[in-house]
Amino acid sequence: MKKQHTPVFFEEAVEALDIQIGEKYIDATYGEGGHSRKIIASGGVLLAIDVDSAQVKKSDDNIHVVHGNFSDIESIAQNQDFTPVSGVLFDFGLSMAQIREGGKGLSFEKPLETLDMRLGDGISVAEYLEAVDHQSLTHALMKYSEDINSPQIANKIIQSRSSKKVQTVQDLKEIIDSVVHADMTTQKKSYARIFQALRIIVNDELEHIKKALQGAVNIVRPGGIIVVITFHSLEDRIVKSFARNNKNAVTEKVVDVGKMRTLASFERSATLRVLKKI
Ligand SMILES: C[S@@+](CC[C@H](N)C(=O)[O-])C[C@H]1O[C@@H](n2cnc3c(N)ncnc32)[C@H](O)[C@@H]1O
Repeated sequence: MKKQHTPVFFEEAVEALDIQIGEKYIDATYGEGGHSRKIIASGGVLLAIDVDSAQVKKSDDNIHVVHGNFSDIESIAQNQDFTPVSGVLFDFGLSMAQIREGGKGLSFEKPLETLDMRLGDGISVAEYLEAVDHQSLTHALMKYSEDINSPQIANKIIQSRSSKKVQTVQDLKEIIDSVVHADMTTQKKSYARIFQALRIIVNDELEHIKKALQGAVNIVRPGGIIVVITFHSLEDRIVKSFARNNKNAVTEKVVDVGKMRTLASFERSATLRVLKKI
């Protein structure tokens, strides 16, 4: 029996989709399949997508999961003859299992792993850190980590790579440690921010989110719903400004789950937004 995990906003996200029996829904971030199973159990007809082939390979036999990027949601749905849909769910980020067991250097707690971090195509973090110029690295780390130590960390990366390639999780942690001398808690916060920034960069995550939201609006029927779970302010800002710039196409509301129940620790930085197509 496969170990089941409880996804973020498990009940609330599916409830917000307002599932109508027999209608079509897309789970654009299949992950471990928790939300997908709940959508099916609620009577929805489901198509799921995930960019990570390892997630698709281990998916449930009875769920149709397409290997692809959610930025292509419109063409994926059309190719699968799955339009229009009544709802789309995005649960951004990665699953804990993927971070801990993926073997791609996504967790700063796996020092021996190579800095890969690719979910789909493209170059690895190790390759990026070898090729990027100083100014671009500084700018990208500042923008995507929002860590005040970004310029110094970028300096150190550029200095270090001339004598030794930055290839493993441990290599990067040592560089961060050489800049951030404070206590372990502060160091861990910097690891988390810098690792997240590099993951965003090599997977072009924020651009894919922008395209995905537009694609979802294009395939949802009028009155249909797009539920979005974000994990950090960079993602959330994109969803918020998308809704603001598309007031003629969608209405938007935030569901304050924290007011409804006690949040689990992994849910505290998450936001649940619901867009409804006009
Ligand atoms: C937080 S997990 C989703 C968990 C899922 N809701 C569940 O119930 O198990 C996010 C998933 O989205 C996938 N993902 C991330 N970026 C993606 C993209 N651009 N296109 C498609 N899937 C993506 C990840 O590989 C991961 O499996």
